[in-house]
Amino acid sequence: MANRNHFTRSVSRHLPFGEKRDTRFYGMHIVSVEQFDRQDLDTIFEVAREMRSMVERVGSFDLLKGKVLANLFYEPSTRTSSSFAAAVQRLGGSVLQIDNVTFSSVSKGEVLQDTIRTMESYTDAIVLRHPEEGSAAIAASVATKPIINAGDGPGEHPTQALLDMFTIREELGRIDGLTVTMLGDLKYGRTVHSLARLLALYDIRLHFVAPDILHMPAALVEKLKEQGMAPCEHVDLADVLPETDVLYVTRVQRERFDDPSMYEGVKGSYVVAPETMAAAKERMIIIHPLPRVDEISMEMDDDPRAAYFRQMENGMYVRMALLALVLGKA
Ligand code: ASP
Ligand code: CP
Repeated sequence: MANRNHFTRSVSRHLPFGEKRDTRFYGMHIVSVEQFDRQDLDTIFEVAREMRSMVERVGSFDLLKGKVLANLFYEPSTRTSSSFAAAVQRLGGSVLQIDNVTFSSVSKGEVLQDTIRTMESYTDAIVLRHPEEGSAAIAASVATKPIINAGDGPGEHPTQALLDMFTIREELGRIDGLTVTMLGDLKYGRTVHSLARLLALYDIRLHFVAPDILHMPAALVEKLKEQGMAPCEHVDLADVLPETDVLYVTRVQRERFDDPSMYEGVKGSYVVAPETMAAAKERMIIIHPLPRVDEISMEMDDDPRAAYFRQMENGMYVRMALLALVLGKA
């Protein structure tokens, strides 16, 4: 793809586990899913499976011994932050956690670029979550060490989309040929912005179900069409649920609304509950990047189709794979 190598510094080398693999990940910034093609996803999935099996067998191993990861979070996080921390520690490395930026020099007015220059002088890679769309690209433009975008405002959340794709593949055994329905806040939800772009690499039928004011951004819909997709937009989940193989539920992103009354007007627009799921296939999955607020009833949690906690666990294996590939030692 056009920008396949845009964020890559090419260093040819052998990757772990004694097997020669695609070496293009070494030193790469991970800013947008648009950097990846299907072959890259196959590589990431294969390494993630090896990571899962290693964690099950031995818990941790010293692949990244001596490496230090910076976790730089300007917005709240539970899963992304802790799964990256667990990932690097299970690989024998360590983590420098900065998640309360009010106690850092950010509160003195330091610009992102200077904070990045500082953190990269102490560490080997930086995981960055920031409220501004485009912040990860700005960070990557000054950084000499890899920047991993952990969410740039309403922009993208590429590592989430990779773990979403891995979950779909592991749960349903394939990606091509599936019908995927994205539900909820498609305007501000960065996870669906990344996931829709990755799904465009596959033969997928895509439905968007959202309240009127939370549609998928028009520019992204246009782009998906140019890539040969024909996403259908709906307001009513019942229109598409019976044919859905993957129901991707999202939280209405309260923190992105300027006007709280607009949030109040749309929160709770959709609630997936056992009654809703009566119309769904028996073999399908419900996934959600989490945290959920009220868009999936807790009564759904024991339904075998509810894959969101398995998805969350997959996050650590996929992030171990990404760190191994980006920082990998021969
Ligand atoms: N945790 C995801 C994100 O940071 C989804 C969400 O917060 O609703 O984008
Ligand atoms: N899915 C996700 O990004 O979760 P956190 O916001 O808890 O990191």
